[in-house]
Amino acid sequence: MERETVFKRRLGRHYDELKWLYCELYEGGIGKFEELCTRMEKRSRERSAGLKRLDKRREERPDWYKGNDMVGMMMYTDAFAGTLKGVKERLDYVEECGVRCLHLMPLLDSPKVNNDGGYAVSDFTKVKENLGTMEDLRDLAEECHRRKISLCLDFVMNHTSEEHEWARRARAGEKEYQDRYFFFDNFDIPAQYEATCPQVFPTTAPGNFTWLEDAKKFVMTTFYPYQWDLNYRNPDVFNTMVDYLLNLANHGVDVVRIDAVPYIWKELGTSCRNLPQVHTIVRMMRMICEVVCPAVLLLGEVVMEPAKVVPYFGTVEKPECHMLYNVTTMASIWHTVATGKVSLLKHQMDVINGLPREYVFLNYLRCHDDIGWGLEYAWLRKEEMEEVPHKRFLSDYFTGKWPDSMARGELYNDDPTSGDARLCGTTASLCGLEAAMAEGNEEEIRRAVDCDLMLHACMMTLSGIPMLYSGDEIGQLNDYSYRQDPAKAADSRYVHRGAFRWEDAELRKNPETAQSRLFAGIGRLQELRKKKPVFSGGASVRTAETWDPSILCLVREYGGKKLVALFNFSGKPGTAWIDEPGTYEDLLSGERIEGKNVAMPPYGARWMLR
Ligand code: GLC
Repeated sequence: MERETVFKRRLGRHYDELKWLYCELYEGGIGKFEELCTRMEKRSRERSAGLKRLDKRREERPDWYKGNDMVGMMMYTDAFAGTLKGVKERLDYVEECGVRCLHLMPLLDSPKVNNDGGYAVSDFTKVKENLGTMEDLRDLAEECHRRKISLCLDFVMNHTSEEHEWARRARAGEKEYQDRYFFFDNFDIPAQYEATCPQVFPTTAPGNFTWLEDAKKFVMTTFYPYQWDLNYRNPDVFNTMVDYLLNLANHGVDVVRIDAVPYIWKELGTSCRNLPQVHTIVRMMRMICEVVCPAVLLLGEVVMEPAKVVPYFGTVEKPECHMLYNVTTMASIWHTVATGKVSLLKHQMDVINGLPREYVFLNYLRCHDDIGWGLEYAWLRKEEMEEVPHKRFLSDYFTGKWPDSMARGELYNDDPTSGDARLCGTTASLCGLEAAMAEGNEEEIRRAVDCDLMLHACMMTLSGIPMLYSGDEIGQLNDYSYRQDPAKAADSRYVHRGAFRWEDAELRKNPETAQSRLFAGIGRLQELRKKKPVFSGGASVRTAETWDPSILCLVREYGGKKLVALFNFSGKPGTAWIDEPGTYEDLLSGERIEGKNVAMPPYGARWMLR
């Protein structure tokens, strides 16, 4: 009885807007809207007592995830610990890493080959057999909650695998299921789409459509040919996908990463990205979660420039995502590593610092995907950097072809027509640790570790949630074994998706090793970040001029405290010619330093507090 009133109260708060948006998108869809509400009520009833308590707590404290103690880590279940049960057994290590939010890469049922690392889902209600069961997922979530760790999972909503039941039935000719995708008898309409719709994987999966020989139809496949785009014009698609989402929430998932969200609405004559209907759908998802499972957060995956990312926060009255990736800053950081010039990064941070403080960004150095060079070229042109040659330089630098570069990355979707290529590799390999270790060059090893730590310090200075990539905490190197696996060989992203090296993790206990320096160093950054209120999201943040092209300065101010953070992106010593009056304590070295003319070691970082 009590539960029903809670559901009704929560629904009441959003009912008018939800119904309005729904019926506008799905003209005459009132029957389908009622069906949606019925499903929501059922999922609400089904939620466990524990999750209901969490709903209530988080509803009362909606800022629960915004503290500076929040640190995330993303990982593949099989690479880290084989199975979900394995992850549960390894949670002590996860806790030792200071992690408060664990993002497990896609783990729902997907084909053995043609699965895009799990991003081609064949059953949204079932865990991939080799990883465990839905029960194991629930168990893991409960154990995480006991340890105050939130669980994040992907919701791959743009497409299904060609092996999903809907796809099989569509292929077999069932009209009802063909209508859940984009099916065409000939290439007339696809050709019109192709005229305005760019390609995601121009080399590994050219074009946006795939010919199905057996069905004698074209199907829309924006990503890989085996990932069929769902048609969200069809209310059955929306209703059912939402139901799957709520089912995951009911298994204890706290954060839902909405994968490839800009792509979910297609319209002829457009780029088929970021269309207004996408925002309607995300807004509806937000309201639906607030009604059924208010404990759950939405993390949008929008790999685009800030002007396109920010609208996914919605407005204060009508919020969409709770969190978004700070992707341009990530790419700018790597650009800065290659060029040794901080001007673009400084400009980028000025853009981010100018946004409302309520926006929560997820900051990261590396993730499971490639690094795309979506930099602000109009701005770089002022510094005489043209897009095509600059991308060529970045590719050469990070694959170690550039003189003196110790970076070891691999290119991804190298497109000869546009001169565009993206980049793969682990943080440590891109910082030069792999090459230095291969050479057995102690000095270079030290430099690579310094660079890696400086980048982590820089990332953790930003407001928002730092998201570590599993393995980075022990400087895990590229893993080239994917080349021997025919299912993976064509996709160089697997170079940074190698099995977690537990034997290297053991080395964190030996202070002589690079692993230990990184593990302790990153751990220390987190500890300080957690302890000092100046890192809170409420702080005001600005950059300051250092008059040294390689040194970035970020100033955070909060509660009468001031942090002057300095980062040297050069392998040579430098001086930050700043003027921030007063004496500071450098939290990283323990030194007392005047806020003037600060000497910076190669790849040095300082967190100066007063
Ligand atoms: C997202 C994922 C990426 C995947 C794509 C298609 O961009 O991060 O790994 O290939 O979506 O699902």
